[in-house]
Amino acid sequence: MSGRALILGARSAIAQALARRLASKGWDLILAARNCAQLQPLASEIELRQERSVSLWEFDAADFESLEGLPAEVRDTCGDFQLVALLFGYMGNQLRVRSDTSELERTLATNFTGAAIVLSHLANYLEELDEPAGIIGISSVAGDRGRQSNYVYGAAKGGLSLFLQGLRNRLSTTAVHVLTVKPGFVDTPMTEGLDGLFLVASPERVATDIVRAYESRRDVLYTPWFWRYIMLAVRLIPERLFKKLKL
Ligand SMILES: NC(=O)c1ccc[n+]([C@@H]2O[C@H](COP(=O)([O-])OP(=O)(O)OC[C@H]3O[C@@H](n4cnc5c(N)ncnc54)[C@H](OP(=O)(O)O)[C@@H]3O)[C@@H](O)[C@H]2O)c1
Repeated sequence: MSGRALILGARSAIAQALARRLASKGWDLILAARNCAQLQPLASEIELRQERSVSLWEFDAADFESLEGLPAEVRDTCGDFQLVALLFGYMGNQLRVRSDTSELERTLATNFTGAAIVLSHLANYLEELDEPAGIIGISSVAGDRGRQSNYVYGAAKGGLSLFLQGLRNRLSTTAVHVLTVKPGFVDTPMTEGLDGLFLVASPERVATDIVRAYESRRDVLYTPWFWRYIMLAVRLIPERLFKKLKL
């Protein structure tokens, strides 16, 4: 199972680990990100050590108008791609989003609206390829239940999880497989300096889990695995009790 993979938000720490992992499995790569030139060292490393072809693509998920044309433009420049991995995300400051509309908007626009728009167009492109293809969407355990510490980010990720679920349902009779990934805490710039982190995983561990889950055509992946049970317990707490918890 290989071909060419488009990684959106490729400067993310998890994305870079995923890029190396996919390359080791024989995938050629298109690394799409803001300021994508900064990914040249990673691209050169993968081309040299793993002997895969790597293209760079300038991409901003908040530039909604550019997203419709993206699949055709990427294909015309870089060639057909069969796998899309959506890695970009933005965790706004939960205290600031209470009163700062632009911070709230940015959190929703990046994690939900931009993700939904670009995935819609990419899903149409992959469906028309009529060959085995896939979408890997990185949501979060934060989207499983609203908590006071990050409910705006959580709401956007919860929306993304539902969107991916619907997309999977729509594409289930096609050759396009959709994998939803829900990481717990991961050691990346997004979580740097945050209080209350526990069971923190490395980006490499998460990337390995993602590739394994995609290869075995899983629908939903909690990574590391124990988050499936942690979130099951969290979802089972009655609302009367849950609303009083400091989470
Ligand atoms: N770290 C965790 O604990 C954790 C847990 C659950 C889920 N996740 C999710 O995992 C994914 C990867 O995050 P990470 O942990 O690897 O964090 P990260 O290293 O901080 O990466 C986030 C990336 O998103 C990119 N991004 C933000 N807004 C963008 C936009 N408008 N257009 C294009 N790219 C944009 C950033 O680009 P720039 O480099 O240009 O700023 C950055 O590279 C995210 O979707 C995140 O929500 C992370």
